[in-house]
Amino acid sequence: MTSAADARLLGRLRRAGCVFAEDELAELRRWASDAAELTAWVDRRVRGEPVEHLVGHVRFGDLDLAVGAQTFVPRQRSLLLAKTVSRLIGHRRRPVVVEPFCGVGPIAAHVAATHRESTVFATDVDPEAVRLASRNVGIGRVRCGPGLSCLPAELRGRIDVIAAVPPYVPESAADLLPHEARDHEPAAALFGGGADGLDHVRSLLAEAPDWLTDGGTVAVELNIGQLAAARTAARAEGLSPVCVVDEVSVVDEVGDVVTDGDGQTALLVAELSQRTPV
Ligand SMILES: C[S@@+](CC[C@H](N)C(=O)[O-])C[C@H]1O[C@@H](n2cnc3c(N)ncnc32)[C@H](O)[C@@H]1O
Repeated sequence: MTSAADARLLGRLRRAGCVFAEDELAELRRWASDAAELTAWVDRRVRGEPVEHLVGHVRFGDLDLAVGAQTFVPRQRSLLLAKTVSRLIGHRRRPVVVEPFCGVGPIAAHVAATHRESTVFATDVDPEAVRLASRNVGIGRVRCGPGLSCLPAELRGRIDVIAAVPPYVPESAADLLPHEARDHEPAAALFGGGADGLDHVRSLLAEAPDWLTDGGTVAVELNIGQLAAARTAARAEGLSPVCVVDEVSVVDEVGDVVTDGDGQTALLVAELSQRTPV
């Protein structure tokens, strides 16, 4: 494509309000098979479709993950959770890690790629997400079903880390979402249920103790304003919030992991206390 044609496409993206127009054009060009497809994608981008849905890929850390037009696009902020999981399993020889609510499976894919001796599973209720996560994480590693109930039974009591980005936006905050998310991602992937958006988080925290090994950990991405309620829910299930510090995170005054990036994302990290031997 000529530089004049490129400049026209760039101008269209800029006028449509794409703040990172040059990066977006470079990404569209990277995956387009020819100039006609590139132009068609710019048309659709100008109408609001996310770049990742158009090209079918998203960069997550060092990985190129497959995404689909009907699936949630993993956010860069979730690298905080991926890196925290690495930190949590760092000292274990053959860790077992599960990503429920996996979407296309960014956390599970990150662990599978960086800890080759690990056993990784992921689950989601959406069959299209499961299909794409299987490509990203590995065939046979992704189960279709709610929460943890569809995992192989032999994992019960054996999981070292359960790491999740469940839907956690309260319905009342729908207007605050970027229009790309509201218009192009499934509502079931965004809204967490309950007045505070934490219904999925609470159900995961209730299920987790049966599946975790002694001293196992559940790590959940949330909005920073939801942390206090999530911490209370974790304690009610016998899980103790713990403090994990690494190079990508900072810790607030009560020991929860929060990102120093957008100031909104936080992690609840809670551990199953040692069970009393029978
Ligand atoms: C916010 S998206 C996160 C996906 C992925 N963890 C990521 O960060 O890209 C939440 C995912 O939860 C799935 N989901 C919604 N309700 C569910 C449920 N009851 N049980 C399991 N998964 C569910 C959605 O299909 C969606 O893929």
